[in-house]
Amino acid sequence: VTAPENKTDLTVIAHRGFAGIAPENTLAAARLASDLGADAIELDVVATVDGTPVVFHDRRLDDRGTSRGITDATGVVADRSTSTVTGAHVLGTDQTIPTLAAFVEAVPNDVILNVELKRPSTTAETPASSAEPDGGLGQERWQPFVNRVMERIDRRRNDVLYSSFSQTALKAVRSRSADARVAPIARDVDTATTMAAALDTRIIHPALDGLRSVQGDSPLRGYTVNAWTARTWQDADDAVQFGVDGLITDYPSVPSAVFESDRS
Ligand code: G3P
Ligand code: MG
Repeated sequence: VTAPENKTDLTVIAHRGFAGIAPENTLAAARLASDLGADAIELDVVATVDGTPVVFHDRRLDDRGTSRGITDATGVVADRSTSTVTGAHVLGTDQTIPTLAAFVEAVPNDVILNVELKRPSTTAETPASSAEPDGGLGQERWQPFVNRVMERIDRRRNDVLYSSFSQTALKAVRSRSADARVAPIARDVDTATTMAAALDTRIIHPALDGLRSVQGDSPLRGYTVNAWTARTWQDADDAVQFGVDGLITDYPSVPSAVFESDRS
């Protein structure tokens, strides 16, 4: 298979480091996504009880809910010590949960880091509803977490894009660094653009299903749109039809398949 000629038209963003082919959010995933030529790597960041940023998607180490990121440890990440969290293995693999510092070390400088800020809440801070993106946490609670994340990233030369479902988290990013690039994540385009206006950014991360329900292309005009999460060729094909700029994808082959079919 030859490299698609128009590959550079679409920013390929490896979701959790190509979670379809590697244990998500691990050093193995970071290395594989880099080796396979991802333009960017999306990673989820939470904090341990002492505030150390770690790369992990779920709130709980033993989450049996929606994620495949299940480990051999138990409890809420933000309640547990850094040694407990970083000693936890992703089940069925030799991979442990990396610190943010270790993860970014595994990524070459020319790969963009898309750092998704997850709610750093302890059991005592459990939100009334999981639909609440800020989890009821104010900026004073987000800010120390965001500062520690950004301190680790500052030491690198990579381009960085911070994203979050929480507008407050991204406000905290901007408070620390006024020119940081931020992208609100939302299921639907309206919510994403409303958050973007409040944050004075032109980058949005809507869900693919949110894009599918857009009438016409006017709500997207003027925005850099990175859609999540492609798992099938149909997903990638739809995203390209919507004219997205970037595709957050579990599989490196998904966007390539679109380019291949375009050329046939
Ligand atoms: O960054 C986009 C996407 O990762 C958001 O959803 O649950 O996979 O973190 P999730
Ligand atoms: Mg994510």
